[in-house]
Amino acid sequence: MSGWIERDEAVVWHGFTQMATYADNVPVIVERGEGRELIDVEGRRYLDAISSLWVTTLGHRVPELDRALADQAARIAHSTMLGNGNRVTIELAEALAEIVPVDDPHFLFASDGAAAVEQALKIAFQYWSNIGESERKSYLAFSDAYHGDTIGSLSVGAGGFGTDLFDPLRFPVVRAPGFDDPACMTTATKLIFEHAHDLAAVIVEPLVQGAAGMRMAPAEDFGMLAEACQETGALLICDEVATGFGRTGTLFASEQCGVSPDLMAIGKGLTGGYLPMAATAANQRVYDAFLGEDLGPKTLYHGHSYSGNALASAVALKHIELFRSWNVIDNVRARSAQLGALLDEVIAPLEPVVDIRLRGLMCGVELEPGNRRGRRACAAAVERGVLLRPLGDVVVIMPPLTITEDEIERIVHTLRAAITEVAQT
Ligand SMILES: Cc1ncc(COP(=O)(O)O)c(C=O)c1O
Repeated sequence: MSGWIERDEAVVWHGFTQMATYADNVPVIVERGEGRELIDVEGRRYLDAISSLWVTTLGHRVPELDRALADQAARIAHSTMLGNGNRVTIELAEALAEIVPVDDPHFLFASDGAAAVEQALKIAFQYWSNIGESERKSYLAFSDAYHGDTIGSLSVGAGGFGTDLFDPLRFPVVRAPGFDDPACMTTATKLIFEHAHDLAAVIVEPLVQGAAGMRMAPAEDFGMLAEACQETGALLICDEVATGFGRTGTLFASEQCGVSPDLMAIGKGLTGGYLPMAATAANQRVYDAFLGEDLGPKTLYHGHSYSGNALASAVALKHIELFRSWNVIDNVRARSAQLGALLDEVIAPLEPVVDIRLRGLMCGVELEPGNRRGRRACAAAVERGVLLRPLGDVVVIMPPLTITEDEIERIVHTLRAAITEVAQT
C-alpha cells in the first residue's frame, strides 16, 4: 500500500492490536468511503460488513449528515456543557427524550460507550448515597458481558480479550451466568434478592451480549430481571451501546424486552457512526436524587471536556430524523430475515460452522475453535472485498442498517468462499 502501512505502524498505536504483527495481518488503510463501502489508499473497495466496529447505521458520507455537520461547523464546533448549554445539544436531548424507553430522561453526554457506562455506574453509586442509603455499593453483572475498557466498565465486564492482566484493578461484582446459560435470568433474579441490601445496580446488555460473540437471551426473560430490580430497588442499567439505534430490529432492544431502565448507556450508532458521542440517560427517579443546594454534595461531580459536542449533536439530531423518514427499522427487519434464511442455506452446512446467531442485523457465525479460524476466515473475506472482523472464533456480521438485498448476498457468498478456503488449509 505504497508505504502507508509502514507510516502507520511508525506512529500509530492501534487498539486491541498486536503492533509487532500489525503489518503481517494486512490492514486496510482507508482513504474515503461511499455508501456502505470503504475505499483504501489504492482505490480498492470493501463492503463495510462490520459497520466500522458497529457504529455506522445509514452508511458513509450520507449527504444529509454531511450537510448537518457543515452547517453546524459554520455556527460553532464546540462549547462546554459544564454549567452552560448549547442550542443544538438541547435540541438533540429533546429528540432523544422522545425515543429512548426511559421515563422523563435527562442525558449526560460523553464521547465513548465505555464512558457512558462509567457514568451510569457512578450515578448509580452516588444515587444511594444521595438518598442516605450508602451501604448499597455493589453491582450485579453477567458473565460474558462487555461494557467497555475503562476500569469501571471493565469491572462490570466479564474480562477476556487479553484484559485479564487488569484483574487486580477491577472491583468485584456479583456475577450472574452469561446468556449461553438458559437459566441466567432466573439465577440473576435470585442473586438480586439475595443481595437486595447492598446492590446499587444491575447492568445488562439487553437481548444480545455483543462482544461475547452475539450471545442472545429471549426477550421475555428480561421482565423478571426488571421486576426483581423494582422490588428490591436496585437500579437497572441497560447498556444499549451496541444494541441501540435499530441494531436488533427495534430502535432500542429494551423495547423488545419490555423494560424501561433507570439508566441507559447509548453510543456507537448515536451519530450514525460519524462522530464520537455517547450518553447516559437517567430517569426522573434517579435525576431527582441529585437535586440540592448549589455546589452541594448531591451534585454529580463528573463531566468530560467534549461532553455534548455541538458537531456531534447536530449530526446525531439529523440522524434521528433520517432514521424515521427512511424507515430504517423496516429495512433492518427485511434484511435480517433475508440474512437468516441465506445463512441457513449457504453457511450452516459448511463443516467448520458450529452455530449461527442472529437478531436484527447483529449476527455471529461461530466456527470450530482453534487454528485461528475466525481471523483467517475474515482475512480471506477482506481479500475478496468484504471487511469482516472476528471475535475469537466468531465471525461477526454487523452491516450498516441500510444494507441492500444484493449486498447481503455479497456478504454471505463471500463468507462462504472464505470459510471454505480456510477449511481447506
Ligand atoms: C455493549 C457495549 N458496551 C460498551 C461498549 C464500549 O463502547 P466504546 O468502544 O465506544 O467505548 C461496547 C463496545 O463494543 C459494547 O458493545
